[in-house]
Parts: sequence; C-alpha cells; structure tokens
Amino acid sequence: MFITFEGPDGSGKTTQVKRIGRKLIEKGFDIVYTREPGGTEISDQVREILMNMKNKQMCPRTEILLFCAARAQLVEEVIRPALQSGKIVISDRYADSTLAYQGYGHGFEQETLKQLLNFATGNLWPDLTFLLDIPAEKGLRRRINNQEEWNRMDDYQLAFHERVRNGYHQLAAADPQRWEIIDADQSEEAVENEIMQRLARRLHF
Ligand code: TYD
Repeated sequence: MFITFEGPDGSGKTTQVKRIGRKLIEKGFDIVYTREPGGTEISDQVREILMNMKNKQMCPRTEILLFCAARAQLVEEVIRPALQSGKIVISDRYADSTLAYQGYGHGFEQETLKQLLNFATGNLWPDLTFLLDIPAEKGLRRRINNQEEWNRMDDYQLAFHERVRNGYHQLAAADPQRWEIIDADQSEEAVENEIMQRLARRLHF
C-alpha cells in the first residue's frame, strides 16, 4: 500500500509522517519511509538544485522537470521495489505536490502535468493521500517561528501559497476515495489521533 502526505508548507507533514510511521511499526506493519524531493542519492542532489536560494532565476518549466526527475529515481530505486515486496510505503509529498505547486501555483495545465507525472512514475499513484490542511499564511508563519530552513520554494509570494492550498482542495474533491482531509491547525497529538483513526478504518486495525 502506498500512502502519501500532502499539504502547504508548514502544515506539519514531516512531523506527522514520522509519528504515524512509528505507530504503524508498533502495530507490526512493515514500513518504508520516503520524502520528496529527495530520498535517494541522486534525488537528493536534484533536491539541492531545487531548494538552493542561489537558483532564484530557475524558470517553472525547469522546476517541473527537476521535480519529475527526482521522483522518477525515487520510484524506480525505492518505492516500486518496496511495494512489490508487500511493504507499506509512506511518502512525505509525491506527485500531487507537482499538481498543486507547479499546476495550481504556477498555472500549468493539469493534463500536461499528469502526462509528465505518468511518464516519470510509470503511472504509479498513491492508494491513500492525507491532505494536512492549514491556511497558507499560518503555515509559512509556523516555518518562521520554528526557525525551519527557508528555501527557494518558501520564498514564493503568499498568493502563490494560497493557490497551492486551494489547488489541494480541488484535487481532493476530484478523488474523494483516495483523499482524507485533516485539519492541521491543531496540536500535534490531535492531528496524529485523527490520522490514526482514519488509517484504522482504511487498514482495518
Ligand atoms: P521541503 O523543505 O521538503 O518542505 P516541506 O517540509 O513543506 O515538504 O521543501 C519542499 C518544497 O518543494 C515545498 O515548498 C513544496 C515544493 N514542491 C513542489 O513545488 N513540487 C513538488 O513536486 C514537490 C515534491 C515539492
């Protein structure tokens, strides 16, 4: 089973992915954890190009292709083999981030992006996706308050991040079977409990 976590910057995905991963391991599930962009030696090198504040002149088309390149390597090297051996793969971001950020954020057509994503991933889409939902401004403020690394993507205007958040809602509405929307503007414990309840229903534990 392939589970992904999505959401605007500062929605707390990374914290939750780790907490949920630990809980599922305690319950005896075999878990592989990945994060995007990155997750393999080659993908981490591509991540460095994407996130580096030095690369402010990067055009959106380059950005799209680099995210796809990092993902292609991750799918081939890590995700597909893990799924084939029956593991649960949990990824901190995946292809929906490209649809939300490069699609709704930068205004590229969804259909074109889906074709690129299908090429990059060999048509691999998640079975279940959690949207950790938070207003864009609150998310960015959290990143500043927690003194998290400020990267080239965070540096886009607030309006961009608002389009991303609305985009996520449109993606979720178009495929409610796959998506679970979680209010991420609560304590870490409350968010974790909500995710675990929904997982219990989906994984029957
Ligand atoms: P990261 O530091 O991993 O942030 P987060 O903790 O929010 O995941 O940075 C990833 C950034 O890259 C984030 O702003 C989202 C963006 N991104 C895209 O624009 N498109 C993509 O396909 C992916 C995977 C990420």
